[in-house]
Amino acid sequence: MGYDAWESFSAKDLPATSEFSKEIFTYLKHDCVVLDLGCGYGRLSGLLSEQGYLVYGIDKNPNAIKEAKENPELTDVSFSVQNATKTDFEDRFFNGIILQGVLACMGPNDRQKTLAECHRILRPKAVIQIAEFGQTDNKKKYLEHAQETGEYGTIIIKNPDESDRFQTHNFSKLGLQVLIEEARLEILNYESPTFKTIHGNDHPGHTFLCRKS
Ligand SMILES: C[S@@+](CC[C@H](N)C(=O)[O-])C[C@H]1O[C@@H](n2cnc3c(N)ncnc32)[C@H](O)[C@@H]1O
Repeated sequence: MGYDAWESFSAKDLPATSEFSKEIFTYLKHDCVVLDLGCGYGRLSGLLSEQGYLVYGIDKNPNAIKEAKENPELTDVSFSVQNATKTDFEDRFFNGIILQGVLACMGPNDRQKTLAECHRILRPKAVIQIAEFGQTDNKKKYLEHAQETGEYGTIIIKNPDESDRFQTHNFSKLGLQVLIEEARLEILNYESPTFKTIHGNDHPGHTFLCRKS
């Protein structure tokens, strides 16, 4: 089915079930310029704005951005429809980026391009927090899904009526770490939170706090 579904979900159907780590706040002063990259309908943008940051939120899904722009609680945030792989921000524009559950919604090439783009728009020594769903030890499930998706770790989530809902990638810790390091981002901190799946089940996660070196 590919990753196309992410572009056309209605805002209320966008799954956003991973908890946000506040670790990045310790690295950002109040007046910092921060990007919520792949912001959806702005679930985390408001949280950043409350910290006193100047917040930008981008997402490739126009329904989600429309909803974010219309939210009266998010009027301080600048939202726009943009693709994470190539944004219109100037080089070294941001003090911080949060990237939460976004790399999971794209194929391997776009994951690399997105992290390279993050590197370009971050100031030197600026920070980025990357949180993604990890892999369970259910190797059989991943092997079965890989026959259809072409990549181990990439799975198709079904609707209750068994139709396909969306495709997403579950990362191994090492796989995500290699991706981050190849993008010349230095890992400062690692957490392994428990996230909830869209069906309400516990699921292992990875949160890497990194710095542009
Ligand atoms: C699982 S949702 C997470 C939303 C938000 N970060 C949160 O945690 O609430 C993933 C979001 O990434 C967006 N996305 C996926 N690929 C993207 C891309 N190439 N450029 C911009 N946004 C993208 C999707 O449209 C979706 O809104």
